Amino acid sequence: MLPQIKDALKKLEDKELEKKYLQLITTLLEKGYFPGLEGVPVAKSSISNIDGDKGLLTFRGYPVQELAKHGSYEEICFLLLKGDLPLLEERIELTEDLLDHKELDDSIAETIVSMDDDLHPMHMLSSSILQLQSADAGCFNVENYQHNLNRAVQLIAKFPTILGTYRKQDPNFAEGETFDSLARYILYCFNEELAKQEKWINIFEQLLILHVDHTMNNSTFSVRAVGSSKASIYASIATAVNSLSGPLHGGANERVIKMLEEIGDPENVEAYLEEKINNKEKIMGIGHRVYQTYDPRALYLKENIIPRIFNEQSDVDPELDNLYQIAKKLEKTALDKFADKDIYPNVDFWSGLVMRAMDIEPKYFTTIFALGRVIGWTSHWVENMEVKNKIYRPKQLYDGFNTRHIIREEK
Ligand code: CMC
Repeated sequence: MLPQIKDALKKLEDKELEKKYLQLITTLLEKGYFPGLEGVPVAKSSISNIDGDKGLLTFRGYPVQELAKHGSYEEICFLLLKGDLPLLEERIELTEDLLDHKELDDSIAETIVSMDDDLHPMHMLSSSILQLQSADAGCFNVENYQHNLNRAVQLIAKFPTILGTYRKQDPNFAEGETFDSLARYILYCFNEELAKQEKWINIFEQLLILHVDHTMNNSTFSVRAVGSSKASIYASIATAVNSLSGPLHGGANERVIKMLEEIGDPENVEAYLEEKINNKEKIMGIGHRVYQTYDPRALYLKENIIPRIFNEQSDVDPELDNLYQIAKKLEKTALDKFADKDIYPNVDFWSGLVMRAMDIEPKYFTTIFALGRVIGWTSHWVENMEVKNKIYRPKQLYDGFNTRHIIREEK
């Protein structure tokens, strides 16, 4: 059967497509299903695109590096939600709109403060998003594009406030402050001092932009799967936050910094890696499903942001510098050891160090990933409502009992 399929596929003009279809058909013939849906297209989308061989990531056609270098959080938000970069007036209008909608209802802010502060911030975030629904009775009507877009903007605006309220345990944590940009406001939620310094706002804004979207990753797929049942934006985005919290997805950035601390000294890198590889354990911040080369987001951090923190500053804290030295050694050693497997550092490898340099607590690292990604999630949710996707309802391969019956002994 396979030779006939191969002959049929050879007729395709697009050779990349031929390769992808052949991989899928081979998996199906060998396994009968697609573990982890690897390589399976599940939706049409025009929001972002990845060429995993070339290490290219684009948002609405623009390379992510250009957007990080020249764009603002608000511009990228407009680009993703509406399809093109804004004119100046449109950017100003969106910035005002976002800043105007950042406040939470008193009852929601009080609930956030009353939550146990042992709750991981990602789980606090997902439950708080669900609470926002109580102030938005109309959210169950998901058919109106303009309403969907407005809800997306309002939800993006409230994300940092939820986190700032919880982190500072204060419903009025930003009272009396004014903000001229979302990046400054978001940074203020995590570090008031750095939010006064243009250099750090710029670094932070670039970090957010790098995380904005990434095609059909696990959390974005979750948004589309939940949204395909016509569930509300709150239900869909809360699900995405939970997906992102996992260590194989966004939760890796928090674990990278813990790993560097655990290694403790550049001298220990080799032995640490050997042990992990022998135990078949994953190294955090390494590897990716779609890149067969260096993750462009990780490369951008390594080449453009890390030097601004470690090479241009003379007063780097020695403890932080030690983590940087460990990361450099780990990167080099992992690249050597995994040379035959096409495994490279991903965005989480370097982003943890950037956030650590900004004195942000590691348990908040993944929430910063989410603060970028919420733009992509909401854009996918809006797009999904427009394309009238079918409800996601895949098949399973059942490998349980054949039908059987309860046998009761006569008494
Ligand atoms: N450490 C050691 N080996 C690895 C790693 C790693 N981090 N990643 C992949 N491999 C090996 C894996 O053992 C397997 O080897 P073999 O074929 O010999 O069994 C091969 O590479 C393929 O790995 P996989 O787990 O089947 O690949 P996947 O596409 O299912 O998983 C991944 C991708 C990102 C979940 C995985 O690379 C991983 O667990 N990395 C560590 C967690 C991490 O850094 N996650 C952040 C991802 S980037 C941010 C985001 O977008 O979420």
